[in-house]
Amino acid sequence: MNRRNMVYEGKAKILYEGPEPGTLIQYFKDDATAFNKKKTGTLSGKGVINNHISEHIFKALTDIGIPNHFIERMSMREQLIKAVEIIPVEVIVRNIAAGTLSKRLGIEEGTPLPRPLVEYCFKSDELDDPLIAEDHILTFGWANDWELEDMTHLALRVNDFLSGMFAGIGIKLVDFKLEFGRLYEGEEVITLLADEISPDGCRLWDMETGEKMDKDRFRRDLGGEMEAYAEVARRLGILPSADVKDLSSHRKG
Ligand code: TYD
Repeated sequence: MNRRNMVYEGKAKILYEGPEPGTLIQYFKDDATAFNKKKTGTLSGKGVINNHISEHIFKALTDIGIPNHFIERMSMREQLIKAVEIIPVEVIVRNIAAGTLSKRLGIEEGTPLPRPLVEYCFKSDELDDPLIAEDHILTFGWANDWELEDMTHLALRVNDFLSGMFAGIGIKLVDFKLEFGRLYEGEEVITLLADEISPDGCRLWDMETGEKMDKDRFRRDLGGEMEAYAEVARRLGILPSADVKDLSSHRKG
């Protein structure tokens, strides 16, 4: 791993130069952060599980025609992706009230929403990813109108697909965050789904017990984070022998 040139280090992932121009390697760390790095920790094996869950989901999204950056998984912690210019907007889709929506508007956590709610945040650590309106995105040129339309439309398709996929394995998809990028292809600019989709950026509740199976276990000091992530992977049919203790041994390449 150390031979590769690092391009960027984020909270949960590192990006390295890829083997071909226009590619990057996305490396999944075990680091966990919440509340914009005010809470930090290490969850042994998280990177391995998230790499596999994200691979599974991006492949399924490719199969239903959602354009995205995923090329292939390379190792337990690495995947090859297309290099894109990240659009500095986080797109959140919600099906059930939770988290900041509940706090902000006083809606009890767990209240089903009558329709999926799409929210946007400006990607800025210094500003704590503030909630913004569509008009901010256009006014400040973070995305143009067709990119905004693409992001919203794709986010709702991803929501429909993932809601059904998780329902099939006894899990409610409460909410999730997506990131998008631009791919320049000749004259064309294509909007691609980027980043990762894993229990780090989703709220997942067990349908029977209501148990949280996502990063809220870490945010709220509930414990059992890795058992919950591994259970999501197990129900998806990946990492069938996901023994959390074994996963932590897959370090640095
Ligand atoms: P939200 O309730 O707005 O924030 P928080 O996670 O701080 O309570 O989050 C909605 C969903 O989007 C939730 O599943 C977490 C995810 N999310 C991220 O993964 N990263 C982010 O920066 C934000 C704002 C949300």
